[in-house]
Amino acid sequence: MKYYLTTPIYYVNAAPHIGHAYTTIVADLYKRFKSMQGYEPVVLTTGSDEHGVNVERSAERAGKSPREFTDAVAAEFQRQWQMLGLQIDHFQRTTSPQHARVVNDLFRRCRDNDYVYKGSYTGQYCIFDNLYVNDAKPGDPCPDCGRPTETITEENFFFKLSAFQEKLLQLYESQPDFIQPETRRNEVISFVKNGLTDLSITRTNIKWGIPVDGEAPHIFYVWFDALIAYTSAVDGENLWPADLHLIGKEIVRFHAIYWPAFLMAAGLELPGRIYAHGWLLFENDKMSKSRGNIVRSEPIQKVMGADALRYFLLREVVFGQDGSFSYDALIGRYNSDLANGLGNLASRTLTMVNQYRKGEIPAAGEGGSIAPLAAQTIRTAQSAFDNFDFSKGLEAIWGLISAVDKFIVERAPWKLARGTEPDAPAQLNDTLYTAAEALRVVTALLYPVLPESTRKIWAQLGMPEPIESVRFASLAWGGLQAGQKIGEISGVFPRIELKPAVDKMRELEAEVTAAQHVLMGKKPEPVPEGPPKIAIDDFLKVDLRVGLVLTAEPVKNSNKLMHMTVDIGEGQPRTIVAGIAEAYGPSALIGRKVAIVANLQPRKLKGIESNGMIVAASVNDGKPVLAGFLEDIPVGARLK
Ligand code: MSP
Repeated sequence: MKYYLTTPIYYVNAAPHIGHAYTTIVADLYKRFKSMQGYEPVVLTTGSDEHGVNVERSAERAGKSPREFTDAVAAEFQRQWQMLGLQIDHFQRTTSPQHARVVNDLFRRCRDNDYVYKGSYTGQYCIFDNLYVNDAKPGDPCPDCGRPTETITEENFFFKLSAFQEKLLQLYESQPDFIQPETRRNEVISFVKNGLTDLSITRTNIKWGIPVDGEAPHIFYVWFDALIAYTSAVDGENLWPADLHLIGKEIVRFHAIYWPAFLMAAGLELPGRIYAHGWLLFENDKMSKSRGNIVRSEPIQKVMGADALRYFLLREVVFGQDGSFSYDALIGRYNSDLANGLGNLASRTLTMVNQYRKGEIPAAGEGGSIAPLAAQTIRTAQSAFDNFDFSKGLEAIWGLISAVDKFIVERAPWKLARGTEPDAPAQLNDTLYTAAEALRVVTALLYPVLPESTRKIWAQLGMPEPIESVRFASLAWGGLQAGQKIGEISGVFPRIELKPAVDKMRELEAEVTAAQHVLMGKKPEPVPEGPPKIAIDDFLKVDLRVGLVLTAEPVKNSNKLMHMTVDIGEGQPRTIVAGIAEAYGPSALIGRKVAIVANLQPRKLKGIESNGMIVAASVNDGKPVLAGFLEDIPVGARLK
């Protein structure tokens, strides 16, 4: 039975980051998992959404034609997926001629079935930016340039979305898992219950898009164009309907409302399920170009390997909910679960087989409690993965890893190897077989999540068939053959030192960002070089004086501020408030000669007017150290 799944097709006006990688990695995992369940073929589509005003503008900024620009960015997305080792079957570009044909075909079907009509669209429009501003009222400003928008009326093709309210509600009712998770389903249902208005699906004053056949100058609205990529990618392949659309939560309405409505209107079958996952946050915010808090996959892949990123995303973030990314947590997870957990189990088990049984898998014995636990883990992991509860599935697998670790310690094979009791050799055989067989089960179960590393462990176990061909049906206990020779052992997850790894990833991040800026046609950010050079005259504008601290007391309700009076030879002492209280107490200050900037504009700190600044040095805004004088110097002398 076939299984067809998709990720969103990503906009090409931003370069790929780990938010995009997140969905695509999960799709790759799910593809491998479905193959393990015996589906055949399992086909994965991703792609690029290349039309619309935003892309046209990005191309212009990059100094390229839309075609050149989209070619370059789409190629970058493809390169990323290759670098991460993802098994993509179709990379569908909305600029492909075949896609344009399918979009027109779907439009024609909707029109033939009377779900499309010509009507006039009245809305707000920015004439400077050629931008329709949805949800704006007359006179509202353009979100891009801030100029007032104008009300325009344009003839468009409309899709009768309003005709689908009941049909959609019935669909959500009769197919409760059509939208998952439950929170998203409820959100969509209440939106649809509030009523649906018809949708304008063409535009006449944009150029970069798919022309409506025979209806120049109409161009398809980007979402009508984009969603159809899911069908156009597999046109003629007998794979439709899709079994799963994996998406991020912000585009659930397009997928759960518009898309089934378009398909129903065209008389086509509906996808089986839409799963909308949460956002990957960085520094507590959704990653985005405008916030500038973007993390890319390439540095992580280069320093830690793609599997480390996959494991972190699947284990640390509960799928469906938002989750935070941080380098520290990534390395922490890697060291505790992969290096110490799985990696350690693999190397100690295989090393013992080498050491005590010359690299040959011994005969099985009764296996103790591990065999039933393994059977249970296979069931739990399979059903958790099936239900997109990846972290729960991984927890169950790590439960088995810990149980095997404990089992090895309890059986103490190193003692059995020296043991003189008659059953010691059989006990040792059983211990080694059990540990190696559990390792085989764990490795196979983890293949969808860690394809690269499990392939290595699989080879070290000496398994004859490739790991990709393992099926759940053949995973039952006892699959490991006695007498099988294990392969050459090498560590799969070397421990990673936090600081050097983070430093390296940050360094690579800067390089990748710079390369992506070039791709997107952005000028590289100037590297800060410290303060600019100034002329001597500028320096002489600063009135620096030797001062003597007469009084000093900490400012109330402040840890940092010290309130001082300082004699700088003016007759009247100056009041100066400085952020030095954490480094100097009053007694260390009173009677001390310091350097003062005497001609600063007065400013109020905690209600006290400060008339000057005390000069101090610090490293990275750390503890201040006051400038002082080794020789005696009169109060009021000028520093030049
Ligand atoms: N082009 C549309 C999708 C059309 S599908 C027919 C689009 N593109 S996008 O480039 O903005 O990609 C959005 C998708 O990228 C999200 O739905 C999600 O799959 C993924 N993500 C992008 N940033 C993300 C995070 N920070 N966190 C999680 N997923 C993220 O919308």
